[in-house]
Amino acid sequence: MGHIQIFETTLRDGIKSPGTILTVEEKVRLAKQLARLGVDVLEIGFPAASEEQYGAVERIAREVRGPVMAVLARATNPRDFEIAARAFKDAERKRIHTFVPVSRQYREHFLKKSAEEALELAVSAIKMAKDITSDVEFSLVDVFRGAPEEVIPLVKAAIQSGATSINLADTVGYTTPADIHQLFGKLKEETGGSDKVTFSIHCHNDLGLAVANSLAAVMEGARQVHCTVNGIGERAGNTALEEIVAAINTRGSSAGWSTQIQLNQIYPTSRLVKRLTGITMQPHKPIVGANAFICETAVPQLADAKEKPPYQIMSAEMLGISSTVDFLTTDAGFDAFKTRVAELGFELDQERLQQCYEDFQELANKKEIVFDADLEFLVGARAAMESARYRLLYLNVTAGSISVPNATVQLEVDGLIVQDAGFGHGPVDAAFKTICKMTNRFPRLVRYEVNAVTPGTDAQGEVTLRLEENGQLVNARAADTDIVLASAKALIDGLNKLESVLDQPVISEYTDVESWMPRL
Ligand code: KIV
Ligand code: ZN
Repeated sequence: MGHIQIFETTLRDGIKSPGTILTVEEKVRLAKQLARLGVDVLEIGFPAASEEQYGAVERIAREVRGPVMAVLARATNPRDFEIAARAFKDAERKRIHTFVPVSRQYREHFLKKSAEEALELAVSAIKMAKDITSDVEFSLVDVFRGAPEEVIPLVKAAIQSGATSINLADTVGYTTPADIHQLFGKLKEETGGSDKVTFSIHCHNDLGLAVANSLAAVMEGARQVHCTVNGIGERAGNTALEEIVAAINTRGSSAGWSTQIQLNQIYPTSRLVKRLTGITMQPHKPIVGANAFICETAVPQLADAKEKPPYQIMSAEMLGISSTVDFLTTDAGFDAFKTRVAELGFELDQERLQQCYEDFQELANKKEIVFDADLEFLVGARAAMESARYRLLYLNVTAGSISVPNATVQLEVDGLIVQDAGFGHGPVDAAFKTICKMTNRFPRLVRYEVNAVTPGTDAQGEVTLRLEENGQLVNARAADTDIVLASAKALIDGLNKLESVLDQPVISEYTDVESWMPRL
């Protein structure tokens, strides 16, 4: 009764965070890590949205084992269900997740239907889903701004039609714990549903209340929480998995609540999501922020080494945050490298392993100590290069107080080697202008950040940037001991990502356009 299911939606709702583009390979890697983390339900995508999403769902369903695999299908489009059934046919345990907009604002704007018509749509969608799997989740979108006299009949109808989970979505991040208390109270009283279905909560963080609201729902009897790693998602994001799990773990035992999350996988998962998405976090982010376990208050020496410091409500080690820094040095042989890379969760074939080892040796010759964070960049960069249209082969930059900054660049574009040179206001500007001229792509640079990957002046500089072209945003990242080179590599990463998305129409969840046409 006290088991709280974690419904993980980074791969569906989380990646709606602006500029987030993951390749199919990266989605599969993340799905494997989320399975290792121990989530109960893994929402692996919305396969009717695009060919790319369909491909990712198909591969994850085939290759990842452990969690129930959920996919999204719009109630308005029967074809979404056919596509979903086909896309996740190889999954061991399947759930269809369907939804209708409930508040007047959402229903009239997106659905253009009355509350009665929305109810009929929900019933027929749940029936279509039931033909595919017995495990059906029905979401009431923007329900907390909905009228209770419309919400109650809708929930009753969904339960009668066979939905096994009823998910209440605070789509616009508007609700408060008091609203949650009220709506759940009414639902329990008037639908008698809590014995027949699992009530679930899905919160957005626009008012900074997503975790508090999710916890409030658990207090009211919800036994499933939707969340994303690092809380990523549209606008202010979703309920952060690490925060809700830590809250349940730290405060929930007296109420008998628990999750099946492997706590020591929380930090590695957070780091992976940060690296794959390029979404950095504020240092004071709870649980996984750089400062989350650093206390500057002067605390008198503890009498006993085993005694817990008075401020410690949970331990960093328990969450997978290692107090000892792991690294490899120049003399690490192939086997040591292979072991460390596997411990970091990468699954590489022999050829990729060998290439990465050569990259490692090159980096170790430059900086002697190669930390885990360096290795993660190195292996990730090699994988990203695989299918890339543009590759940076060479960059030489001259800058200083008496010369006009200039860059000479050699690129591989579609397998052909091209080179050029150009000027700029500084070394990064010169490199960017030259690369843009060579690729004939001129996106707007809307964000640019440099951070050190690890401590020390010999650390790699990590450049995170965001590009915009024709309204499409992409986040990109790269690292190098030379920050101008890291900047150029990050720009190339961004150009490759733009290339991969610009011509790919993606259907949004709330529009009623026909699904794309896979080969069914
Ligand atoms: O925010 C939302 O309403 C959603 C639903 C599809 C659950 O993501
Ligand atoms: Zn959402």
